[in-house]
Amino acid sequence: MDRIALLAERARGSGGGVDRLAFSSQEAEAVGLVAGWMEEAGLSVAYDGLGSLFGSTDGNTPDVAVLMAGSHLDSVPNGGAYDGVLGVIGAIESVEAMRAAGIRLGTPLEVVAWRCEEAALFGQGRLGSLFFTGELSLDTVRGWERPDLPLTRLLEEAASLPQRASSRSLRGYLELHIEQGRRLEASGTTIGAVTAIPGATRWKITLSGRADHSGATPMGMRRDALAAAAELILAVERAGMAERDHETVATASAIHALPGAWNVIPGLVEIQTDIRGIEQESIDRALDFVREAARGIASQRQVEISFEEKTRGKPVRLDDGMVSAVEKTARSLGLSVARMPSGAGHDAQTIAPYVPAGMVFVPSIEGISHAPGERTRPEDILAGVQVLAGTLMSLALGE
Ligand code: GLV
Ligand code: MN
Ligand code: MN
Repeated sequence: MDRIALLAERARGSGGGVDRLAFSSQEAEAVGLVAGWMEEAGLSVAYDGLGSLFGSTDGNTPDVAVLMAGSHLDSVPNGGAYDGVLGVIGAIESVEAMRAAGIRLGTPLEVVAWRCEEAALFGQGRLGSLFFTGELSLDTVRGWERPDLPLTRLLEEAASLPQRASSRSLRGYLELHIEQGRRLEASGTTIGAVTAIPGATRWKITLSGRADHSGATPMGMRRDALAAAAELILAVERAGMAERDHETVATASAIHALPGAWNVIPGLVEIQTDIRGIEQESIDRALDFVREAARGIASQRQVEISFEEKTRGKPVRLDDGMVSAVEKTARSLGLSVARMPSGAGHDAQTIAPYVPAGMVFVPSIEGISHAPGERTRPEDILAGVQVLAGTLMSLALGE
């Protein structure tokens, strides 16, 4: 709890939450602190070309298969203290507890802090794990460079650090995380054994109408891009509502209207949308619903509406064996446990198509996350770390 609080304090922003965006100085400070804690726990620290941080129990030996556990350290703007951080600190604490108890596992453990899990910066998240699996290149990341984000230099810095041996492989991956929703709290359950993670489709939608005089243009003669955007935003919400029984959710998350003057009809609007779920057919219906609504709004209001797809992730099922191992460990500790899908995206979904991957959830108070009010009770944090450590032990022992 002290470590989580310290990381939050060092990145406290003006909104009262945690501002630790990927590639920021706050993130660099957190990585430095966590690397130090890894070394104190006896882990060998290494990085990869994107700057994800790894700490291994076996000295970063080439050609071995490890069990990996961790999560991410970056946050959304004005975010919470636990998202990502819990999984990294929990994995380090698991290693420390095993060492203190004199437990030596046959399989080496590796703790990871993936860089840039949040999609807040680029519309695409999970950069660390996508780079790890080879699905994302550093050239692509360099292409996102902008004046306030010197990515080329930051990636050079990452490459100059001790590098993780690339021939190491994974036997499995386990991520402890806060639920970020309300199911566990509502059902009075302490542990979630995560069965599936949604795939997100994110669009930048541009509406082009005609900027014009807000006093002199009669109501019937306008091509108001912001009024059209208002209709489209409601259509996004309706798309999610229509698919709610399938757990699909649809959000218009940001808007930018130009020229943004009191007395000018907005001529150009961009909105960002995030539509996700765990059933591909339901996601597709929601996406179709929004496109169809856009066609109607465009012709009725004489605005042009174009879609730029930023990302399209597939829903992913987590490994059955991992789900059972998490459940079994929780039960053996006398904790209540339920199988459940994740609402949020996680690095585990990148790893899951390649090796058995699992997730352990602990309750979020009132389900609040990606906001300063994100909280989890200390006793639930302890339970989550115990389940993480216990599951890693049972996997390493092949039980
Ligand atoms: C990650 O937090 C996401 O689901 O957007
Ligand atoms: Mn997270
Ligand atoms: Mn998050």
